[in-house]
Amino acid sequence: MIQISKELRVRIVGIGKVGSGIVETFAQCGFTVYGVDTDKKQIDNALNSIDSDLKKLLEKEKITDAEKDLILSRIRFGTDLGLIRDADVVVEAILEDIQAKKELFKTIDHLVVSKEALILTNTSSLSVTDIAAATERPEQVAGMHFFNPVPVMKLVEVVRGVLTSKETVSLVKQLAITMGKTPIVSADSPGFIVNRLLNALVVEATRIVAENVGSIEDVDIGARLGCGHPMGPFELLDYLNALPLVLDVTDYMADGLGERFRMPAWVREMVKKDNGDSIACGRFYDRKPSS
Ligand code: CAA
Repeated sequence: MIQISKELRVRIVGIGKVGSGIVETFAQCGFTVYGVDTDKKQIDNALNSIDSDLKKLLEKEKITDAEKDLILSRIRFGTDLGLIRDADVVVEAILEDIQAKKELFKTIDHLVVSKEALILTNTSSLSVTDIAAATERPEQVAGMHFFNPVPVMKLVEVVRGVLTSKETVSLVKQLAITMGKTPIVSADSPGFIVNRLLNALVVEATRIVAENVGSIEDVDIGARLGCGHPMGPFELLDYLNALPLVLDVTDYMADGLGERFRMPAWVREMVKKDNGDSIACGRFYDRKPSS
């Protein structure tokens, strides 16, 4: 069994906004980490985003120039999936597409040499058991679900697939703690714990607007000032900048858990109007997308 330490070789596959945040957080915590994405543009975006985050920390005097250089020196990016061959830990963070994830896990299983390696998925809602079934080592597959913005949010949801071993769950919890996060453990159920809470709020917020009970702005103010949330649900959806994806996830949760997770028509229309083919479509406020 592997031992959790900062010497582990950590490889992240898929470096969009969350994947890039995972790379940044591992590097900040002292791990040497590779980020792999077949799309070179994602690598450029990740480099810019990490550099800009570290500059902000430098300006706030939370890190020194030398520490910034050290963090950056721990990160390597590439487009070749072969970079994961020597991994002790792989975290997959590609789009929420079950077929794509299953194909990727099959490839990861073939590529990663260490028989002890942990193979983890950052899926926010899909079945970890189904993803694990694409490998010949489902007991070493678990969910390791991070939250946006990854360097700031303290939670990691550890998801136990049907065949995930107790040792794997314990190792992933230790890994999260080593990263300065607090782990919680969820069974493999659509949306796990946090998206079940969060999407209940988000879907109810869209219904409040559909029923003319309150405006988008007032729902957000209500959530912030009445419930103590850092952002209102619509502000959060804009911040995540992925309404079509949220619609897919809530539909998946509605199929598995009940109609209470189904978004109302006006949100669907909004996504359709914006073509629904761009991840960045569908915004509630006329503000620039966050980087
Ligand atoms: N590394 C380390 N620390 C960092 C950092 C980094 N890269 N970036 C920022 N920080 C620190 C900042 O220095 C700051 O510290 P101080 O308070 O000591 O100065 C702190 O983190 C907060 O940073 P900001 O000032 O930039 O942020 P803020 O106070 O304006 O809060 C926010 C922004 C964290 C996004 C907050 O509004 C928030 O928590 N919003 C809700 C986010 C949320 O709900 N996320 C979950 C989304 S759902 C999801 O992700 C899962 C899914 O499945 C889709």
